[in-house]
Amino acid sequence: MPGGDARPVSGQRMAEDADEARLRPQRLTDFVGQARLRENLAVFIAAARERGESLDHTFFSGPPGLGKTTLAAIIANEMGVELTSTAAPALEKTGDLVAILTNLGRHNVFFIDEIHRLRPPVEELLYTAMEDYEIDVVIGQGPAARTLKIPLPPFTLVGATTKTGLVSGPLYSRFGITSRLDFYDADEIGTIIHRTAEILQVKLDRGAAEQLAGCSRGTPRVANRLVRRMRDFGQVWADGGVSPDIVTRGLAALDVDQQGLDKVDREILETIITKYQGGPVGSETLAISISEAVDTLEDVYEPFLIQRGFLKRTARGRMVTELAYQHLGMKPRAGGEEDGGQQVLF
Ligand SMILES: Nc1ncnc2c1ncn2[C@@H]1O[C@H](COP(=O)(O)OP(=O)(O)OP(=O)(O)O)[C@@H](O)[C@H]1O
Ligand SMILES: [Mg+2]
Repeated sequence: MPGGDARPVSGQRMAEDADEARLRPQRLTDFVGQARLRENLAVFIAAARERGESLDHTFFSGPPGLGKTTLAAIIANEMGVELTSTAAPALEKTGDLVAILTNLGRHNVFFIDEIHRLRPPVEELLYTAMEDYEIDVVIGQGPAARTLKIPLPPFTLVGATTKTGLVSGPLYSRFGITSRLDFYDADEIGTIIHRTAEILQVKLDRGAAEQLAGCSRGTPRVANRLVRRMRDFGQVWADGGVSPDIVTRGLAALDVDQQGLDKVDREILETIITKYQGGPVGSETLAISISEAVDTLEDVYEPFLIQRGFLKRTARGRMVTELAYQHLGMKPRAGGEEDGGQQVLF
C-alpha cells in the first residue's frame, strides 16, 4: 500500500522491522497485554496438552502490528510442537496446500497469515482438513480421474487477518477459538518499550519511555520501531542514551506528534475540517482529497484515528470530533460538528 509504508508510525511491517524475530516474545508469560486473551489461551493450551490433543483451530484478527503472528509462534512453543507458516497468497493452487498439510506432524501448528485472501478452491479444501483431518485429492484427469482420501494428523490451524469482514462465514465458523486483538494501553506499551530497549541495549530513561509510549498508537510494532529510531538519534546527537529531550527532538524530526499522529493523519483531519466543514464526507471523496487509496485510508489510517476519538464513522460518512479540533488547535464553525458541520442559517 502506498503511503502507509513509509510512515514511522504505520502499524504495517516495513523493511526496517527485519529484526522483529529478535524482539518477539517466545512464551505466553513474556507476551504483554491482551490479558483476557492471554489467560484464556493459557487455559486452552494447558487443557489440550493434558488431554493429549491438538489445540482447537484458532483465529486472530486485528490491526497490523498487534501480535497475531507472535501469538501463532507462542502457541507452537507452548504446545511444544513445530510451526509451519505461510500466507494465503502463497497458496496459489490446491496442490500447494496439500503439500503442506500432508507434511504436518502430529499436533503441529499451521499458521496462515492474511487468511481472508485464500482462493475459493484452496479454502474449500481447507474445510475438510480442519473439520475431519482428511482431504480429498483428485488423481488423474477425465474419465480415469478418481478421488483419493488422504488422512491428516490432527493439527491446529492458526489463521490471522487484519480484515475479519472479508473472511467467509463457513471458514470463520470452523475455528474453535476466535479472538480480536485490541490496541494496547500506554502502560502495556511502556512495558514493551522497556523490554525492547533492554534487548537492543538502549539506555532509555523512564520519562523518555513514557513519552514514546504515548505516541506509539497502542501498537507494539510502532513502539519497537520508535525505540530503534530514538536509539539512532541518541547515538548521533548524544552519548547513546535516550533522554526525554532526545525523544522530543527525534519525534519532531520524524514529524510525529505527542499523540502519535503523523503528517498524513493530521492532513486527513485538517482536510475534513477545511474542505468539508468537519464532515460528514464519504471515504472515497476523502481518499481522493488526500491522494490515498480508499483501502489504505480505511485500513491503515482510520482505525487509530477512530479508536483515539479523533474521527467518527457515520452512516453519512466520516466526521471529525471536538477532540480533533482541539488537537489541531482549530475552532469548530458555528453550528458545531454534531450536526455535520452544516450551519443552520434561517
Ligand atoms: N504483546 C506483545 N508483547 C511484546 N511484544 C509484542 C507484543 N505483540 C507484538 N509485539 C512485537 O510487535 C512486533 C509485531 O508483532 P506481530 O508481527 O505479531 O504483529 P501482527 O499482528 O502479526 O502484524 P501483521 O498484521 O502486520 O501481520 C513483534 O515483532 C513483537 O516484537
Ligand atoms: Mg503478522
